Amino acid sequence: MALLKDKVALVTGGAQGIGEAIARKLASEGASIAIIDVNLEKAKATADDIKQLGVETEAYKADVSNTGEVQEVVDKVFEKFKKIDILVNNAGITRDTLLMRMTEEDWDLVININLKGAFNFTKAVTKIMAKQRNGSIINISSVVGLFGNAGQANYSASKAGLIGLTKSTAKEFAGRNVRANAIAPGFIKTAMTDKLRQDVINKYLENIPLKTLGTPQDVANAVLFLASDLSSYITGEVIRVDGGLAM
Ligand code: NAI
Repeated sequence: MALLKDKVALVTGGAQGIGEAIARKLASEGASIAIIDVNLEKAKATADDIKQLGVETEAYKADVSNTGEVQEVVDKVFEKFKKIDILVNNAGITRDTLLMRMTEEDWDLVININLKGAFNFTKAVTKIMAKQRNGSIINISSVVGLFGNAGQANYSASKAGLIGLTKSTAKEFAGRNVRANAIAPGFIKTAMTDKLRQDVINKYLENIPLKTLGTPQDVANAVLFLASDLSSYITGEVIRVDGGLAM
């Protein structure tokens, strides 16, 4: 039986990469999907493709860092789907450089999209979930939020911040049967990581006990678990999907 029959899931940054794999996985278990992305064209193409799985899927344009746009888009999703059971805060960017060279703009942009974006959606969607007395929020953090990374002060701070946001949300909304958990992916093979030189990838592989890069599917599988009732007694948790990297 489908794990997410009659559920509605909202996935940010779902046009491509890990977000797309998450949207597809949740759809394959019967959930209706709302994809939110700045890239509407790509989000629409992904949504059209996912519709082939036989679930309702809609693409919406919004910049997650824009509080007004987020409230508007959540209203639209609620109007169409009448509820929101699952929120996946996946949209994220990098602006990597050493701290000495990092500009205020590099810092603000990454924090605003990766961290404030999740706050914006959590705030707008928990209003709905609290009334429903049902919901699962999944924040896509990163292992660098756990152990830091040279050249990623802004990104790792945003990803560590997501863990604090996750645990606080879990505590505030547990009484309403709304759960919040985070996933900390390690090195996942996507368009972003395809750009890296092979010697850089080899260096990472040395430190990954399972000796292989992860796939968007690996992350999507963990999201499915946290989205479904299989994890109904789990909240405030961080699940690493990293081949053992941050062990
Ligand atoms: P990606 O760059 O392939 O996809 C990100 C998506 O988010 C794109 O569709 C983009 O248009 C959208 N997006 C960007 N800024 C946005 C905004 N302001 N508002 C709405 N949508 C926006 O990235 P990827 O690799 O799929 O990563 C997804 C998430 O997973 C990110 O949060 C990333 O930090 C996290 N992650 C990725 C890892 C990796 O190895 N690829 C490892 C650990 C975490």
